[in-house]
Amino acid sequence: MVKQYPTMSEEYQKAVEKCKRKLRGLIAEKNCAPIILRLAWHSAGTFDIETKTGGPFGTIRHPEELAHEANNGLDIAVRLLEPIKEQFPILSYADFYQGIRLIKAIWLEFFAVEITGGPEIPFHPGRPDKQEPPPEGRLPNATEGSDHLRAVFGHMGLSDKDIVALSGGHTLGRCHKERSGFEGPWTTNPLIFDNSYFKSSSAAIRSDKALLEDPVFRPLVETYAADEDAFFADYAEAHLRLSELGFADA
Ligand code: HEM
Repeated sequence: MVKQYPTMSEEYQKAVEKCKRKLRGLIAEKNCAPIILRLAWHSAGTFDIETKTGGPFGTIRHPEELAHEANNGLDIAVRLLEPIKEQFPILSYADFYQGIRLIKAIWLEFFAVEITGGPEIPFHPGRPDKQEPPPEGRLPNATEGSDHLRAVFGHMGLSDKDIVALSGGHTLGRCHKERSGFEGPWTTNPLIFDNSYFKSSSAAIRSDKALLEDPVFRPLVETYAADEDAFFADYAEAHLRLSELGFADA
């Protein structure tokens, strides 16, 4: 879909740049890239293409949406980020939470000097903050298989390839029993964004298994396991789409 991005004031652009530096500091200090990526994804992944409701418009900060079962533990991310957001009242929460995804890439690039990092993803500011949280139940359920994944991502307007590429987000972080009922990381290096998720044989949740069993998903998993550049290119495209669901549509 063709996008028409809003033009933001110089003051807004400057705030975005300054905020990026602050967030980079926070992520380096707290090693909190994984939960912040999960926050950005859960904030965007509620979009419904039919009704044009939900999506990356900052509603996830509201207690009602944070209380959705899929969002267990994300109050921690909102609390971590609030002191920085308070310094930039000009920024919308919607841009702030999605911008974090970019920060993640920058943060990882920062360490790329020593180790490997994630792909760069363009960021276009200007999302308005919406007040109305989406209904519960739009995010994927970790106990379901490929039909469910297609239904959930299909409601967002995302494709089979997007599902597999975005699932590579599990290269970062881990499951926490007290948040999701599951436990443990997907990879041996959960603070590094690389293609190890696709090489790992550990299927922590049902959707990981679905990727290996499904005849369309599996060849993509194999491609990404063999070719990190292919994964990074598709991930960057898919995440850009995710972060702009319902935003700047022409
Ligand atoms: C495909 C469907 C998906 C399912 C069923 C799913 C499910 C889960 C579950 C159950 C957890 C563990 C939460 C916890 O216990 O703390 C988790 C964590 C995580 N998810 Fe997903 N997820 C999906 C897709 C994605 C996508 C598309 C992304 C990002 C692009 C993503 C990024 C993350 C990250 C970074 C964590 C780690 C959070 C942390 O360490 O605190 N997930 N996911």
